[in-house]
Amino acid sequence: MKTLQRYSAGQRSNHWATVLCFVLAAVSGFALFHPALFWLTALVGGPQWARILHPYLGLAMFVLFLGMFFMFASANCWRKEDSEWLGKASTLISQGNQAKMPPVGKYNGGQKLIFWLFALSLVVLLVTGLLFWQAWFAPAVPIWLQRIAVVLHALAAFGLFLAVVVHAYAAIWVKGTLGAMVRGTVSNAWAKHHHPLWWREQVQPRATKK
Ligand code: HEM
Repeated sequence: MKTLQRYSAGQRSNHWATVLCFVLAAVSGFALFHPALFWLTALVGGPQWARILHPYLGLAMFVLFLGMFFMFASANCWRKEDSEWLGKASTLISQGNQAKMPPVGKYNGGQKLIFWLFALSLVVLLVTGLLFWQAWFAPAVPIWLQRIAVVLHALAAFGLFLAVVVHAYAAIWVKGTLGAMVRGTVSNAWAKHHHPLWWREQVQPRATKK
């Protein structure tokens, strides 16, 4: 079966390191969010460790995501076909019929929306998190500002969590997608079916591209 390269080893390592930080930051963050979730602290070494590690895990996730942001931002720029694709997304979800969707490039409108949601929520999480990080900056920040930051931090965390659930679900739901981030390659048929404009760029010899 003919395959196409979709991600390099560096890009995949960057992605899965981000996922690891996300999972650990989410577990320690949820544990701090509500007493009913306190039991989650056991997964990160106890309550003290959850409190100490959470901001550093968040920081590491942000820095790692920044790597992906610079690598993938241009491929996630919004185009005319993405709005058309998004307009028909409900048909795709209800009928599962890819054939009726407008052709898209490397990413579809849904993936692009999730990408920018990741970026926005991570910026909000970073800025607000720094404002009430007790060990470093909180003593210099007025309490009213810290209170606003706590609320925005929780909202952004919730948004990021939902976006990751949709992202991971779609990656598993669309057969052959997970392999792109595991092996780095996709089948020729997958690319042609799901991302025809990207597929054309990949298979067309450079000379005929003009
Ligand atoms: C367990 C959770 C996750 C799974 C199973 C997963 C899986 C995948 C897969 C299969 C792709 C390739 C999609 C394609 O090429 O069409 C991908 C791309 C990507 N993932 Fe994840 N991912 C997860 C979590 C995350 C998290 C937590 C982040 C960052 C906060 C993230 C950020 C990205 C980015 C930026 C891309 C590049 C494609 C794009 O811009 O949409 N992923 N992921």
